[in-house]
Amino acid sequence: MIRLPDGGWGRPLGGRPSTHILKREDARFPGLIEAEAECLALARAVELTTIDAETVELGGYSCLIVSRFDRIVDGDGEVRRVHQEDLCQALGIDPSGARGRAKYEQGAARPSFKQAARLLDAYATDPLAELDRLVAVVALTVAIGNADAHGKSLALLHPDAETISLAPLYDTVPTALWPRLRTDAAMAIGGQVALADVGLEDIVREAIRWSHPADRARRVATETFEGMATAIEGGVVPADGKVGQMVTARIRALRDLGGCCRRRGGRGSRPGSGAFSAAPYGAEGWCLPARPDPPRGRNSRRPGRRPW
Ligand SMILES: Nc1ncnc2c1ncn2[C@@H]1O[C@H](COP(=O)(O)OP(=O)(O)OP(=O)(O)O)[C@@H](O)[C@H]1O
Ligand SMILES: [Mg+2]
Repeated sequence: MIRLPDGGWGRPLGGRPSTHILKREDARFPGLIEAEAECLALARAVELTTIDAETVELGGYSCLIVSRFDRIVDGDGEVRRVHQEDLCQALGIDPSGARGRAKYEQGAARPSFKQAARLLDAYATDPLAELDRLVAVVALTVAIGNADAHGKSLALLHPDAETISLAPLYDTVPTALWPRLRTDAAMAIGGQVALADVGLEDIVREAIRWSHPADRARRVATETFEGMATAIEGGVVPADGKVGQMVTARIRALRDLGGCCRRRGGRGSRPGSGAFSAAPYGAEGWCLPARPDPPRGRNSRRPGRRPW
């Protein structure tokens, strides 16, 4: 769709770039469009997206209209495309593979946050800053309870032929509000698959897999939670709405666990270790060692030079 100067909508013809995308609500999940718009507002509040979202009723359907993050509007109103590719495209994964499940980490092709980090570390102009953003994206994904953050929900922007950056967030669905939707994280976080069991230290552990410093990751994730809580308190989304209440509760649980150290209880799911479990820790507690910032710069940015 194209936003017209009079505020109306037009259809792009003759290869003209569109400026907005319309998403129609799936009738099986009433309220999902509103909830996605609220999560986009939270993402905007913590600077993880730039896109504007509005909900409208069209032809009897609830719809979400989002501005495109892959467009630049010049001073004279001319719209230019910015090249983007989602993580599956960047990794050469055909999302229609594995009967449509290849975009999930459990699918055959296995897109993962670590793969996204590898690309950003190799090709971004400022890899540390990009990996911080990726940590914040993971933190927001946990806080909004989005188990459907798969390989097509993350995108890379190519501002020029040489570099990439993490695109603004665009697919922020709080699946936790719909019990019929998947509860396993589409891409595992620190080895933790059950999204409800992901805690702050799982996010830190995920970042360590990218060779991103633990203390930095812990700080970025905590700041993301704080920023989201402040946004809810400030009325960015209704605090007493479904999203506001659910995200507030999740962040409270994540914060309560945040300052503590715990010990790994064994392989796989660790009941009680995550943000939303009744018993927060095992008996022993464990601590991640602080690590110095790894060397960065053009020479360390080539693929294969870092221990993935
Ligand atoms: N604001 C945006 N700007 C540019 N491209 C976008 C934007 N929003 C969505 N897209 C593109 O449209 C695709 C589908 O959008 P989105 O992921 O939000 O829909 P979805 O119904 O949740 O899809 P899926 O079933 O893959 O999860 C994205 O992979 C992305 O390429
Ligand atoms: Mg989606």
